[in-house]
Amino acid sequence: MNNKKGLPIPLIASIFVLGLIMVLSMFGMQVAKEKRAEAPKETEEVAGGEETTAPAPVAGGKIAHNPPSLDDVPEGPLGEAILRGYELTNNTSEVLRSEAATPEDGEKLVNELSCTSCHAGAGMDEHSSSMVGVSAVYPMYIPRSGKIVTLEDRINGCMIRSMNGQKFEANDPDLKAMVAYLTYISEGIPVGAELDWRHLNNMDDVPVPDVDAGEQLYNQSCIACHAGDGSGTGSNTGPALWGSGSFNDGAGLARMGKMAGYIQRNMPIGQENSLSDQEAADLAAFILSQDRDSYPTPEKDWPNGDRPSDIMDKEKRDQVKNGTIDWNEVLGKN
Ligand code: HEC
Ligand code: HEC
Repeated sequence: MNNKKGLPIPLIASIFVLGLIMVLSMFGMQVAKEKRAEAPKETEEVAGGEETTAPAPVAGGKIAHNPPSLDDVPEGPLGEAILRGYELTNNTSEVLRSEAATPEDGEKLVNELSCTSCHAGAGMDEHSSSMVGVSAVYPMYIPRSGKIVTLEDRINGCMIRSMNGQKFEANDPDLKAMVAYLTYISEGIPVGAELDWRHLNNMDDVPVPDVDAGEQLYNQSCIACHAGDGSGTGSNTGPALWGSGSFNDGAGLARMGKMAGYIQRNMPIGQENSLSDQEAADLAAFILSQDRDSYPTPEKDWPNGDRPSDIMDKEKRDQVKNGTIDWNEVLGKN
């Protein structure tokens, strides 16, 4: 059991492990120090050590994703608004269409999706474009709009693009209810905080896709929930991926980078993060080359330049169909 110099191997091993632990803990302290330096001031201890009702936003120097339970919504008008906002977020199409004056009005108001179709768990799922904290980060500058956008504007942005519908009026109680709900789930998050879970569903370098391979994979892995014609099986069980029930081509998901990133990180449900970059790109290209409604005023987006090249609008969908699409150009590889 001894080596040449006569020291027992277990002793050498423990000295080595001890040394490793010391080095690691010094490194850990350094990282913790850096994180503390970045942490917002609001996290300092409450004077007198009183308990606050807000959930502790900070764990290990980072803002934790920890939305409060809907069971704890306050009594009274604010609580009612929060719960109405939750319903509108989780069952958007069903609620708005069922309350519209006529079925035709309902269809104009909103497509077949709910906010949950993309912001899973009514925006409380950390990995699926979570909306926890949005009331603390808006208003903010959005390059697509070329201006400062409020939370109300941002909700309406998803209404006219992802929900292929109509904006809420500024004084609509439903818009206020959605803001009340999003504010509730953002409880305890300091204004302007950096939130690790924002803008994750994006693939920076999308490989040149193979649309036919994407179709094959779709038929194997996606069809059970999203249907052969992409019309889906329900807004919260398998939402519409293309066609008139789905988002229009002004939506974020109509971009190759966002669609490929979203698919890879969230689909198929139960096997998230199992698809390669290539597979996610193939699926994104297949889905985004199918027909969908056009966003009416794309020329008003990115007024200050930098318009992305990966938006799969009608022109590009047609190019896929007639075989003239230049994926290198679309994906910014030239
Ligand atoms: C088809 C998918 C889709 C649907 C449906 C959808 N959204 Fe979004 N939404 C997105 C994407 C994509 C983003 C951009 C997030 C990103 O870049 O990671 C976004 C961003 C947002 C943001 C800003 C989030 C942030 O961190 O800045 C808000 C707020 C929002 N959506 C609200 C809603 C609401 C409310 C609804 C329902 C009325 C809705 N969305 C429906 C796809 C969708
Ligand atoms: C077991 C059912 C299931 C399977 C399988 C599945 N999905 Fe989904 N998909 C969902 C559900 C449910 C949502 C709504 C969001 C959520 O709950 O995460 C969703 C949302 C989506 C969305 C965003 C919403 C929309 O309307 O655009 C896309 C894109 C998507 N899925 C693509 C895929 C692709 C591609 C596959 C195959 C690789 C796939 N899904 C497999 C259930 C499924």
